[in-house]
Amino acid sequence: MNAMTESLSDSLSDSLSGGPRARLVANDFRRVMGQFASGVTIVSTRDGGRDFGATASAFTSLSLDPPMVLACLFRGAATEEAIRRTGRFGISILRDDQGAVAECFASRHPNRFATVDFRYGEIGVPLIENALAHVECRVSEAVKGGTHTVFLGSVHSAVRYDGRPLAYFAGNFGHFLVGDDAAVYGAIRAMILVDGLPPGSPLSVRDLAETLSAEPSAVLAALKRLGAEKRVARDPEGGYVVGGLDLRTALDMISASRTIEVGVAELTVGWVDDSDVEGLARLVGRPCQAYPRPAGGPDAGDGPDFHERLVALAGNARLLNHYRELSTVAAGAGPGIEEAHDDGDHAAIVAGYREGNLATVISAIDRHARRLREAWQQSSAR
Ligand SMILES: Cc1cc2nc3c(=O)[nH]c(=O)nc-3n(C[C@H](O)[C@H](O)[C@H](O)COP(=O)(O)O)c2cc1C
Repeated sequence: MNAMTESLSDSLSDSLSGGPRARLVANDFRRVMGQFASGVTIVSTRDGGRDFGATASAFTSLSLDPPMVLACLFRGAATEEAIRRTGRFGISILRDDQGAVAECFASRHPNRFATVDFRYGEIGVPLIENALAHVECRVSEAVKGGTHTVFLGSVHSAVRYDGRPLAYFAGNFGHFLVGDDAAVYGAIRAMILVDGLPPGSPLSVRDLAETLSAEPSAVLAALKRLGAEKRVARDPEGGYVVGGLDLRTALDMISASRTIEVGVAELTVGWVDDSDVEGLARLVGRPCQAYPRPAGGPDAGDGPDFHERLVALAGNARLLNHYRELSTVAAGAGPGIEEAHDDGDHAAIVAGYREGNLATVISAIDRHARRLREAWQQSSAR
């Protein structure tokens, strides 16, 4: 048994015996169970002319024949009490764009149903519109389980709709990506970063789906993810286009990257092994790369670029990750930016490391950053 396993089982026995660490255990247990990814539902009913509904992830199918489901609700909560009174409930399985609905139905909002479109199902329970599926049930059993009531429901009706589920993992809402989706995302990202599609180029869902032999829904999911990364933007008609970094953001990113590189130089010049310096020297001729490199792109598997290797000399993974996010600006992100690269700067940085001369390294880092800054300024003036 490893240390983590031991600490949780100790706390659990304390908790079971009502020991002093019971509160801590509840938090530990919640964190452990947060590792189990689930979908998100709204469990609902209507009682005395009032609609009740709560966000619930503790929902699952129980039996196929007869069709049954179960949902667990906190005892004494308004929706739980209403379902015990009415003996029926509806389940709306939420779609990936319904995170706000999940938040609202878990909040203290005084009239949750006023915030959504809904309709009443065949047995009179409210069902959220645009959900991924609706299930209507009659309670066949309500079992007490710790703090919750487990409602076993005999399914009256069940309808599915197309779309993707809202996912819930470790306290966060997210999307569900199947393997293919990751490949589609990687391929579109490579088109933008490696093939260098210029900002503003249209990205048609239908054409991309055809080119990549992918489901349109996978292309759409990839475009949304790339949108969150500011690689893709929306045009005025609502279509997708290749996004462009604005000049202010690009300059801020360059300045932040330069500050990290200088800090790393201050920590490492004169202290790193010769083998690390030679590792850096081997990358001198390579162009600066965007990170992360797209899966399947021409650079995939090539290892770190010069700058990444430089920052890695500090041996600080957190710093390296922040740097990688910033360094996406260095390559493929704007017209004419690649010409800014100059191997002479890389060579001077290596020479400075070999001599243990911090001033040489810092002035080469500054030169390199200045070139990049000027390239961005010129490209935005064009
Ligand atoms: C993602 C998520 C999942 C949840 N799952 C459950 C659940 O399975 N059972 C439960 O009792 N509460 C769950 N909750 C909490 C309830 O939604 C919340 O307590 C709600 O306010 C209860 O509403 P009510 O008091 O009107 O019944 C969840 C909350 C969130 C955000």
